Amino acid sequence: MQNVAVIGLGTMGPGIAATLARSGLRVSAFDVDAPKRAKAPAGFATAATVLTALGVPDRTSAGIAVADSLAACVAGADLVIETIPEDLELKIRVFREVETHVGAACVLASDTSGIPITRIQAGTRLPERVIGMHWSNPPHIIPMIEVIAGEKTAPGVVDALVAVVRHSGHLPIIIRKDVAGFVENRVLYAVMRECLDLVEQGVIEPQDLDACVSWGIGYKLAVVGPMALLDMAGLDIYQAVGSYLNKELSARKDVAAYVTERTAQGRLGIKSGGGIYSYTPEQVAELQGARARKLVAVRKALQT
Ligand SMILES: NC(=O)c1ccc[n+]([C@@H]2O[C@H](COP(=O)([O-])OP(=O)(O)OC[C@H]3O[C@@H](n4cnc5c(N)ncnc54)[C@H](O)[C@@H]3O)[C@@H](O)[C@H]2O)c1
Repeated sequence: MQNVAVIGLGTMGPGIAATLARSGLRVSAFDVDAPKRAKAPAGFATAATVLTALGVPDRTSAGIAVADSLAACVAGADLVIETIPEDLELKIRVFREVETHVGAACVLASDTSGIPITRIQAGTRLPERVIGMHWSNPPHIIPMIEVIAGEKTAPGVVDALVAVVRHSGHLPIIIRKDVAGFVENRVLYAVMRECLDLVEQGVIEPQDLDACVSWGIGYKLAVVGPMALLDMAGLDIYQAVGSYLNKELSARKDVAAYVTERTAQGRLGIKSGGGIYSYTPEQVAELQGARARKLVAVRKALQT
């Protein structure tokens, strides 16, 4: 694969485009929103600076071209990655349109956070070339990418995408069943559900919960994954604790009121100036810079 098109230049698109351009692929990008297209080059540049700080080799062959139509963006593409909003109908509609502009061998990858790929490919003309490529945010820093085949994805498409991910210096993780949420988000949402429940029950304050998780299991899990951690702790210990604790854990099926009440008030998090915590624009800029620096430092330390 030589030519990649990235559709959607919101939170995820610029970092994805920058990572792939860095590996030598020719990348074009598009967003329906003109201001997003105008802002994208600054996003590519920021991501490139971080990739340099990470020590990722620079094999850039050309700058990222921002196209002003979907057709121009995907013309000649071998791989099209959509990273548009998490809406099944929208993703299908865009892939159907892409299909009218690309050759039959072009791979269509979705960065969905967890919509089963089988459902997306069911709406396309050539489902065998549709695949999941789930990046983690920020996509240029977090190296893990889930690769998910739907029921109809051709095995060769999986192999080709794995090769692209490896070539970019990221780490492909093959998901063996097309389950909703794949693996990363199933694990994350289990953690989030329990954290929200503990805060709602008044067991802990949000700031203390963040410190507890980041400096406890978060820090440890970056070095020892959950399966290896079971071996480290002892399966007998897990069995003994799990036998009384598992039944105490949250099993709620809906979303916690702690979240739904805030979203109803427009408290969406950093993007609206406040969610669980409150942020001034200066604090947002400072936080984003500090988080990127720390993630770079941790990734470098973990690679040694
Ligand atoms: N934000 C995350 O942390 C994260 C992480 C992993 C995966 N994802 C997934 O990636 C996808 C994108 O997420 P995001 O956070 O970047 O969303 P976002 O809302 O920040 O960006 C989406 C962009 O797509 C554009 N868009 C909408 N319709 C379009 C169309 N028809 N053609 C071209 N562009 C269009 C929008 O203008 C917007 O700029 C979603 O499926 C999401 O679930 C997000």
